[in-house]
Amino acid sequence: MKEQSSQLRHWRIEREPDGVAWLTFDKAGESTNTLSAEAMRELGLALDAFDREPPKGLVIRSGKSAGFIAGADIEEFTQVESAEGAKALVKRGWDLYNRLAAVKYPTLALIRGHCMGGGTELALACRYRVAVDEPGTRIALPEVMLGIVPGWGGMLRLPQVIGPAAALDMMLTGRALNAKRAKQLGFADECVPLRVMENAARMLVLSGQAPRQLPFMQKLMNGPLKGFVASQARKQVAKRARPEHYPAPYAILDIWANHGGNALAVPADKPSSMEAIYSSPTTKNLVRVYYLQERLKGFGKDSDFAPKHLHVIGAGVMGGDIAAWGALRGLTVTLQDQNIERIAPAIHRAAKAFKKKLRDDTQVRFTLDRLIPDPAGHGARQADVVIEAIFENLEAKRKLFAEIEAIARPEAVLASNTSSLKLEDIAVALKNPARLIGIHFFNPVAKMPLVEVVEGAGSDAEAFKKGLAFVRKIDKLALPVKSAPGFLVNAVLAPYMQEAMRCVDEGIAPEVVDEAALAFGMPLGPIELADTVGLDIAVAAGAQLASGITEPPKKLMELVNAGHLGRKTGRGFYTYNQGKPQKGVVGQVPAGLADRLVKPFLAAAQRCVEQGVVADAELADAGVIFGTGFAPFRGGPMNYLKEHP
Ligand code: NAI
Repeated sequence: MKEQSSQLRHWRIEREPDGVAWLTFDKAGESTNTLSAEAMRELGLALDAFDREPPKGLVIRSGKSAGFIAGADIEEFTQVESAEGAKALVKRGWDLYNRLAAVKYPTLALIRGHCMGGGTELALACRYRVAVDEPGTRIALPEVMLGIVPGWGGMLRLPQVIGPAAALDMMLTGRALNAKRAKQLGFADECVPLRVMENAARMLVLSGQAPRQLPFMQKLMNGPLKGFVASQARKQVAKRARPEHYPAPYAILDIWANHGGNALAVPADKPSSMEAIYSSPTTKNLVRVYYLQERLKGFGKDSDFAPKHLHVIGAGVMGGDIAAWGALRGLTVTLQDQNIERIAPAIHRAAKAFKKKLRDDTQVRFTLDRLIPDPAGHGARQADVVIEAIFENLEAKRKLFAEIEAIARPEAVLASNTSSLKLEDIAVALKNPARLIGIHFFNPVAKMPLVEVVEGAGSDAEAFKKGLAFVRKIDKLALPVKSAPGFLVNAVLAPYMQEAMRCVDEGIAPEVVDEAALAFGMPLGPIELADTVGLDIAVAAGAQLASGITEPPKKLMELVNAGHLGRKTGRGFYTYNQGKPQKGVVGQVPAGLADRLVKPFLAAAQRCVEQGVVADAELADAGVIFGTGFAPFRGGPMNYLKEHP
């Protein structure tokens, strides 16, 4: 039975004879639900209606197949023009959800699909939560990734519901829960399959069951022991983010521990106040990063290419991991190398990774079943996408592609993962050179979100588009780049690493060089990065990009000549103990060192834009942030250059 609620555009109220009311969020004119000012105002109106005529139980659900609620409306959030405006936005949600939490009738959030930020906070303000057990169900408070705090009650209620340790982990990292985990942690009262979700919601909301209580110890941690828990958590945060770069996680801890989870209660002169967060450039830049990511996600979206079978040739460091990633993302993958002995280690590595990632034996088996060792290379005949990741040797690659072209399906994408060879030089071996594109992954494949999709001088536009769609399909961020030495990411990294090594040649300790870069906001110092990538690879990349103009750094050559290739050999610029660099005490960082290191990096980014390697400055920023981890709070190198001319 529909209620007369004609003033609601985004919400629907339906009352059933048994007294259950269903409040369905179905944002007008959009495919996902976001909590705009208008949607929030209407939620208030719906609550007015329930005040007038209270239901026996209220179930809040989504009318979208895409998911429950994607969070606040980021567009509105970027239009806030003052700290006062930011506070008003926080107050709107804080007050409304407090009102929802206080209603006398039982309330329940029925969560299917994504449930983010303000959506999670809405669910937390309900008495019960039911999560639908589907792969798309993801529950998170990702505000910290935008440099803001979950101000609509998340900092108050999440610790009450799942205990502070798990709550802080979610709020400080933005990590999402799936439905099963949500039930385990007590976020969801029930985790149910799709077909019973409505019944389960109805029964629970009418059950009269007392809301779940936190175990005693967790209560203590959310009460008298808050100070201790917060100081421990602060130490963890400090390992990953410096307060001068990322104020939000520190603010979350302070607001939870000292201000009852209420962001509005913090005095204006404190670093965790809304005033301070609003005025920090980090927030603006992280929102920019969010939009950059959305832009990358858009590439390949318009294509109807739906690859199912990936064939990878070369089961080494890269090929093995590319194959594993493809299988993890649901593709059937055939993995070819010169013999089965060379494929076995890759399968072994994949099995270990799947176990860690999936934590479910059946899923691990299914995923491994999709990863098929194929020493004879039969898979190339059926594959939708063929990726070559063999030794960096032009002749070997040419020979291989000539063979592959002869047997591959005519519509299959043929791609090379080469880092340093010219795509056009490989393509000459094909009868139809236009077929070849580059799909350039980064090491380690599972961790790096970016993949460069390379368009050679003669690459077919359709093949290129398919390449972008393939990358999107396996949940990586595709960056379209033109064929040029180092593409974008290595072209900016190499001169920066070379400059760092030159500093070492001048007598500055590697620890000091790395510290200068970390203080700038890099995720890893350039010297440790070189050791991680492998010094032999650093030499090769340097030689290719510098085209012999500059001398290679002395210390680098000494190390390589002595067989010290970095982490993989246990020694490079640093000595490694169980994979960890043994660093000495960091001395005084000379003034201007960070600027000196970053200068060649910024210059290279600018060059790539000028030379059209990427289509515009925004894409350079996106590629560099997701491909190198360049200080996200600075919004990317081109953004940084604009702000620091
Ligand atoms: P790798 O040396 O670990 O593995 C190469 C594999 O290819 C070996 O297992 C070898 O047996 C196999 N192979 C060689 N010729 C073959 C043939 N004709 N048929 C079948 N298999 C053959 O090399 P890695 O590091 O995985 O590099 C592979 C490619 O990926 C190169 O083009 C490299 O430029 C590129 N790349 C490497 C990155 C890295 O960090 N290692 C990063 C991005 C790209």
